[in-house]
Amino acid sequence: MIIANWKCNGSKQMIFTWFEEFVKNYISKESSYIGIAPPTIYLEYVKRIISEKSLGIKLGTQDLDAASGAMTGAISAEMILDYECNFSIVGHSERRQYFDEKNSSIKEKIHKLIDVATPILCVGETFEENKNNLIEEVISKQLRVLEGLNFQNEIVIAYEPVWAIGTGKTPLKEEVNEIHKFIKDVVQSSSINSLIPHVLYGGSVNVDNCKDFFNCEFIDGALIGGASLEGTSFANIVKSFNGSYK
Ligand code: PGA
Repeated sequence: MIIANWKCNGSKQMIFTWFEEFVKNYISKESSYIGIAPPTIYLEYVKRIISEKSLGIKLGTQDLDAASGAMTGAISAEMILDYECNFSIVGHSERRQYFDEKNSSIKEKIHKLIDVATPILCVGETFEENKNNLIEEVISKQLRVLEGLNFQNEIVIAYEPVWAIGTGKTPLKEEVNEIHKFIKDVVQSSSINSLIPHVLYGGSVNVDNCKDFFNCEFIDGALIGGASLEGTSFANIVKSFNGSYK
């Protein structure tokens, strides 16, 4: 599973060029789950291009709101369902940092989303927390938003160390692999139906380092920011994931 998180980047021109480049470099593999989370205002445009080019790429939102109605600017779970989005990212560290999102509101969002689309819940420690060996403690706390949930569908966790996002720094692949195993164990033991989640790594993934992560036993794919903003780079990461990039 490879997800592009375009964040607040792009324009119609950028998206047009992105798909031109992507199509030139992309080798489809029916079985792999490839998704894009564009800025919401471009969802329709991206959806149209994906359909015209028969790319089979899934669409998602970068966030949602638990409430609906008199909530200016919000996107509700009902709208995500109505628009047939496949997934939504929830609890990204930038939402936690710049929009002051707490685990309590992230929990509400997950509960709203669970029957509607696949949640991609982001967890990860800050640099300070990493240096103080608090990784497992922080992640366990963030994963508590899933407690008591009965997953009928899949759930995806993205492990994104805050200090690795957009910085060009990454943890060692062995460390990431261990943390992914930890996340799978915690979620499996805390969900009612013992579901094992897919766990993606996110944080400065690019064409050069992605294969190292993809070869690890417990890493099921990647959530990609910066390197997903160019169609060629993203297509090459997908190729690497599919084992065909030389
Ligand atoms: P990055 O972002 O790939 O630019 O580090 C990842 C993310 O924020 O999801």
